[in-house]
Amino acid sequence: MSFRIRQFRKADFETLWQIDQACFDPQLAYSKPEMAFYIRRPGSFTLVAEGGEGKDRGNGGAPAADPILGFIVAECRRGNGHIITIDVITEARRSGVGSALLQAAEQQLLRAGAVAVALETPVNNEPAIRFYKQKGYFVEKTVPGYYSNQLDALVMTKELAWPVAR
Ligand SMILES: CC(C)(COP(=O)(O)OP(=O)(O)OC[C@H]1O[C@@H](n2cnc3c(N)ncnc32)[C@H](O)[C@@H]1OP(=O)(O)O)[C@@H](O)C(=O)NCCC(=O)NCCS
Repeated sequence: MSFRIRQFRKADFETLWQIDQACFDPQLAYSKPEMAFYIRRPGSFTLVAEGGEGKDRGNGGAPAADPILGFIVAECRRGNGHIITIDVITEARRSGVGSALLQAAEQQLLRAGAVAVALETPVNNEPAIRFYKQKGYFVEKTVPGYYSNQLDALVMTKELAWPVAR
């Protein structure tokens, strides 16, 4: 699967919200105002993965827009990186999209001055926990009742380091 990572544009918002609705149970998915708040918060940035299998052609032969495959919202506040959410559509999973989004976000966090990054994930989100562990994140602690006072969260962290020049 070929895809590229780019910065968020306002016109992406509705699609990103729909992806988030599809990725999470109703009690975990963001409302539109919540998602808008996180995307606009000072220090926050959103990266989008778009692409897919080959090029679709519209009726006139013009290339159709590449679909959005996933996105990540992250922020850097007082030197601390934070992954707010990462969502990849079901059909594009296990193709490296999540890895590319996370790597691009970590690089942008480094450039913004972050030395470490933290995130929260539900204790029962096994795919996400495996994904983050594979990316070098460690479980730091459990926060009881983090999600709507009902579901516990794992706080996972990773120290960031500039790539070593060869
Ligand atoms: C978690 C998520 C972002 C991973 O995205 P992805 O594009 O599938 O990830 P990648 O293809 O880059 O996977 C990289 C590695 O992570 C691990 N991994 C990813 N998904 C996994 C799964 N379901 N089970 C086990 N390991 C998994 C694997 O080691 C994988 O490498 P491999 O495919 O070569 O074995 C995606 O599953 C997702 O959007 N889930 C729904 C939303 C969500 O839970 N987000 C996290 C919020 S806290």
